Amino acid sequence: MRTPVIAANWKMHKTLSETAGFVKEFLPLVRDLDGVEMVICPPFTLLGAAGWALADAKGKVGLGAQNMYKEVQGAFTGEVSGPMLKDVGCGYVILGHSERRAIFGESDELVGEKVRVAYTHGLIPILCVGETLQEREAGQTDAVNRRQLLAGVAGITPEQARSLVVAYEPVWAIGTGRNCNTTDAQATIAAIRTVLAEKFGQEVADAVRIQYGGSVKPNNIADYMAQPDIDGALVGGASLEAASFAAICKAGK
Ligand code: PGA
Repeated sequence: MRTPVIAANWKMHKTLSETAGFVKEFLPLVRDLDGVEMVICPPFTLLGAAGWALADAKGKVGLGAQNMYKEVQGAFTGEVSGPMLKDVGCGYVILGHSERRAIFGESDELVGEKVRVAYTHGLIPILCVGETLQEREAGQTDAVNRRQLLAGVAGITPEQARSLVVAYEPVWAIGTGRNCNTTDAQATIAAIRTVLAEKFGQEVADAVRIQYGGSVKPNNIADYMAQPDIDGALVGGASLEAASFAAICKAGK
C-alpha cells in the first residue's frame, strides 16, 4: 500500500509572520488526520521558521524545499545545497518543477544530477514532469514524460527509486484553473508507472508515489485520489490558505 503524499508548493509567496499564522491555523485542522503524509515547501527564506513551527507535528507534516543546487558548497552565488536543506530540517526537495525548467532553463540532465545528489544527502526528491499544451496537442504527452522521467532518475538505484515521489504536472494545468480531467491524469500517471517498471522493475514501480499537480482544489482532489495510480497531489495556489490546504489533505487520504 502506498501512503498518499500531499505537498504544498508555496512558490514565491509568504512572509515570516504569514508562515507562523498559516502553521498555527493549519496544525489543529489536521491533528487527527492519519494515513496521509503532508509536506510544506516554502521559499528558502522561510524554511527555518516553518521547520520550527512544525516541530511539534514532526512525522505528520514534513518540510520540503522547492529547489536545490547539485554542489555541496562553494562559489555558487544565490544557490542552496542539499546539506543546507538537510541542516534546516528538510526531508523533501521539489526538483524539475516546470517553472524551473521554463523560466530558469533547467535541463533534463541537470534535474537528473540534482535528483542523484539529493539522495546522497538523505533528501527525497519530488521529481516533476509534465508536457506543455503544444506538446499535448502534438500527441507527445507520454513521450515528454518518459524523456523527463528517465533523465530525472538516470543516476539512482532501484533501492533509492522506491522512495521517490514523482509529480505529474501538465504545464497547461498549472495555475490556470484548468485542471486535467481525472481519466487523462490516471492514464498518463499509469504510463509513468510503466516507465518506472521498465527501468526499475514492477515491484519498485509499485512502491513509487506519483502525484497529480495542476489546479488541484478542495473540490476536485477527491476525484484524483479515487484513481488507482494517483497517490497524492502537488498543490500550488490552493495550498496558500490553511483551511484550503487542510481540506485537500483530508480528502487526500
Ligand atoms: P497550482 O500549482 O496548484 O497553482 O496549479 C501547482 C504547481 O505548480 O505545483
